[in-house]
Amino acid sequence: MISVGHRSGLLDALAAGPATSAGLAARSELAERYVREWLAALVTGGVVRWDPASAHYTLPAEHAASLTRGGRLGNMAVYAQHVAMMGALEPLILQCFASGAGTRYEDYPRFHEVMAEDSAQTVVAQLFDHVLGIDDGLVPRLEAGIEVLDAGCGRGAALIELARRFPASRFTGYDLCRDAIGHAQRSTAAAGLDNLRFAVRDLSHLDDAARFDLITTFDAVHDQKHPQRFLDALFAALRPGGRYVMQDIGGSARLENNLDFPMASFLYAISCFHCTPVSLGQGGEGLGTMWGWETAEAMLRSAGFAEVRRTVFAHDPMNVWFLAHKRE
Ligand SMILES: C[S@@+](CC[C@H](N)C(=O)[O-])C[C@H]1O[C@@H](n2cnc3c(N)ncnc32)[C@H](O)[C@@H]1O
Repeated sequence: MISVGHRSGLLDALAAGPATSAGLAARSELAERYVREWLAALVTGGVVRWDPASAHYTLPAEHAASLTRGGRLGNMAVYAQHVAMMGALEPLILQCFASGAGTRYEDYPRFHEVMAEDSAQTVVAQLFDHVLGIDDGLVPRLEAGIEVLDAGCGRGAALIELARRFPASRFTGYDLCRDAIGHAQRSTAAAGLDNLRFAVRDLSHLDDAARFDLITTFDAVHDQKHPQRFLDALFAALRPGGRYVMQDIGGSARLENNLDFPMASFLYAISCFHCTPVSLGQGGEGLGTMWGWETAEAMLRSAGFAEVRRTVFAHDPMNVWFLAHKRE
């Protein structure tokens, strides 16, 4: 119901002020009978308040802050869309449980669209206030002009923002999925940027030796075919003195450490339905969403990175961020 409220615009419309079901239906240009049933689900779920005397429904400001577009705390309704996606995949995932086989990215309708909405909040909106601040040297180097790769870039919104802000630098985005790259290329053309290129590329075979000064991955390592080999290839693709910035899931590799992690059951569920099977489907290891920051840190060191630094940003409690250096 949260996902329906997000996609239909009902949550945003209700945040504009109390309304009857007919008033909210008119405000949203939706059918009253469905809107009333949706409201009842949210009232009994404790999300929306209802005043029987006036028949008005209210989305309290403290709920609107984390359930609406532009909400002060980030929009948790974006993540609810994964639940609907998982429901659509249940028959296939049940087959995987029986056979041990994996899935393909094409099996997931709307995956790149939802993922782009997710990273619009945790990455793109925070690039200049938080993400680039992970290393004091990044902004001056980007202003001077460097080569940047975003590996597993999806629809590429982060690179588009960076390419706009730093015209002296050159940006490359690689992803396995043709539809995501097609979207990124159309957005690049619409923005009129000539310092940015996107290409379909299977990063299981990345062999661009010492080409880049900065590499980023945003939530794109744990579900690779072989995460260690992938990190080894990223290390090789960096020039000496280069930097690697990695956002990945912030859980621990040890189940007992995740008992108090509020997102843990959601993330293990996503792991069953997406991150584990897409890796297995490429013939990979299937480490899963909760491979753990300990595993990530150990793999970065094993790849050869020096000075591996780990940060959790307040705006992004689901993820952990690493800054890793390749020695001069
Ligand atoms: C969880 S998504 C993150 C996408 C994007 N970085 C973002 O933050 O929106 C992981 C991405 O890795 C890409 N990917 C997975 N396996 C890949 C491979 N072998 N080669 C290239 N890209 C791959 C997927 O297509 C997907 O876009």
